[in-house]
Amino acid sequence: MFQKKRVLIAIGGGIAAYKICEVVSTLFKIGVEIKVILTNSAQKFITPLSLATLSRHPAYTDENFWQSTHFRPLHIDLGEWADLIVIAPLTANTLAKLAYGMADNLLTNTVLASTCPILLAPAMNTDMWEQQAVQRNWQQVLTDGRYHGMCTGLGLLACDRVGAGRMAEPPEIITYVQSLLHTAGKRDLVGKKVLISAGGTREYLDPVRFIGNPSTGKMGLALAQAALHRGASVTLVHSPASWDVPLGVQAISVVSADQMRASMVEYLPNADMIIMSAAVADVKPREYSQQKLPKKLLPQALPLEPVPDIVAELARLKQPHQQLIGFAAQTGDIVTPALEKLHSKNLDAIIANPIDEPDSGFGSDNNRAIFLDKQGQRIEISPCSKLQMAHHIFDVLAKK
Ligand code: C5P
Repeated sequence: MFQKKRVLIAIGGGIAAYKICEVVSTLFKIGVEIKVILTNSAQKFITPLSLATLSRHPAYTDENFWQSTHFRPLHIDLGEWADLIVIAPLTANTLAKLAYGMADNLLTNTVLASTCPILLAPAMNTDMWEQQAVQRNWQQVLTDGRYHGMCTGLGLLACDRVGAGRMAEPPEIITYVQSLLHTAGKRDLVGKKVLISAGGTREYLDPVRFIGNPSTGKMGLALAQAALHRGASVTLVHSPASWDVPLGVQAISVVSADQMRASMVEYLPNADMIIMSAAVADVKPREYSQQKLPKKLLPQALPLEPVPDIVAELARLKQPHQQLIGFAAQTGDIVTPALEKLHSKNLDAIIANPIDEPDSGFGSDNNRAIFLDKQGQRIEISPCSKLQMAHHIFDVLAKK
């Protein structure tokens, strides 16, 4: 999928530089061609040899920039070669140079000699990151549509402080790179508010036992990432999950269908696009015991009652400008029941996906589906990663 895609990774001088080995190694494994530039200060933290070995290309430094062995200037070659540039860690120094269009080393010359999208992952000490000058440069750089800025995280920094300025973790950088390779940097969801539900709800009968399902929320997570990377502001209502919510996404954590319903109804008025990818329970135990039930007191038969049909309620509440999209996880014939839900629940579109096929559905990193909408459109999405599928879905929805 990413064969022939070319990513230039430019490493600045910060301790987070050591994490870039993982980014390079993972991108190489999924078929991306990678070249690396290191600034002089980056080489104090990590060696060109490590990056050359992982990327299977020479790793370029300012020393190469000033060598006379190239037939064409190196920064022009690298700038023209790249489909995407990633600057990580982005230091205060490099950021300031980008803000002013300076070109005093291989990295900054290459940026000016290129036209592709650029992903920025800043990393610095909290006080440095929060300096007015740094924030001003950051805002300045982001006014240029080429630059896609990643949020910094909160956490323990190398200076032993806990605060803002921590570089986004490698998996998040890798996901963002995959998004930008799909969209070529297109931001077709800017100004859109996207509300997504994810994961399987849990209906407890006592503090330890619940009725649930195997949904891990990975499809909803992928939708949130894809929407964020296309410029949307994203709210993700999710059940207990083993993954981290992407930086920059507003996360609302819920457990039961009733809680999910309350949050979805609360955030609905503000949303332009609502995607119910959660696997909501259909029933819940009629009684809840505050204390753990001893084994011998467990009921022989469990009285159940229905949970609210969230998406049907959202359909009743939504305004004409809002798009409401459901998911239908099915076995066997996936189209007929999905079409029935599309119409009976009054949705704008539904994504039917099989849960009885290998490497798709619950828990898998991959999926396949058929997109169906109320205008009668039917689009097959062949097996791909859940992130890729999320982008295929937004490719259609963004045009509506
Ligand atoms: O479970 P089912 O296949 O009917 O789900 C179809 C759609 O309805 C999904 O988008 C799911 O998130 C939504 N749903 C819901 N509330 C329920 C059950 C399902 O919103 N109680």
